[in-house]
Amino acid sequence: MPIEIRVTVNGEAKVFRVMPGERLSEVLRREGYVSVKVGCSTGDCGTCTVLVDGEPIVSCLMLAAQADGTEITTTEGLAPPRALHPLQEAFLDEGAVQCGFCTPGMLLAAKALLDRNPSPTEAEIRKALAGTLCRCTGYENPVRAVRRAAERMREGGE
Ligand code: FES
Ligand code: FES
Repeated sequence: MPIEIRVTVNGEAKVFRVMPGERLSEVLRREGYVSVKVGCSTGDCGTCTVLVDGEPIVSCLMLAAQADGTEITTTEGLAPPRALHPLQEAFLDEGAVQCGFCTPGMLLAAKALLDRNPSPTEAEIRKALAGTLCRCTGYENPVRAVRRAAERMREGGE
């Protein structure tokens, strides 16, 4: 039997009908949040990372039913339509996007970091990104991109 959950996704109140055993990643993709990528479904790759009440979680390991009443952020919600979040701009500027499959998870992990720590050290950036596996970039460019975004956000007071 489907159940109803009430969530706020990217600032919009939503009601989703979900099956008791459905994963949050599956429901978000079905509802059109296709930035949520599913790589492994076992909690290992981090590509399905979303923010739940501001905390990065791997949405393949969370039942949608457990998200009832929470606020969820996906990459679609990082910036208004046709605009880019400073992290997205910095990822482009630093060549931190190659195939792009890991990028939504990296962006949200980085956003969670910068929301709580606007001036992270390189070690803190690496730790924040460590849960998201990337086969393309070697991590150097994403780390540089997060540092650059942090600088711009501090300068711009964002
Ligand atoms: S798909 Fe969720 S961690 Fe890999
Ligand atoms: S850019 Fe391809 S997996 Fe990271």
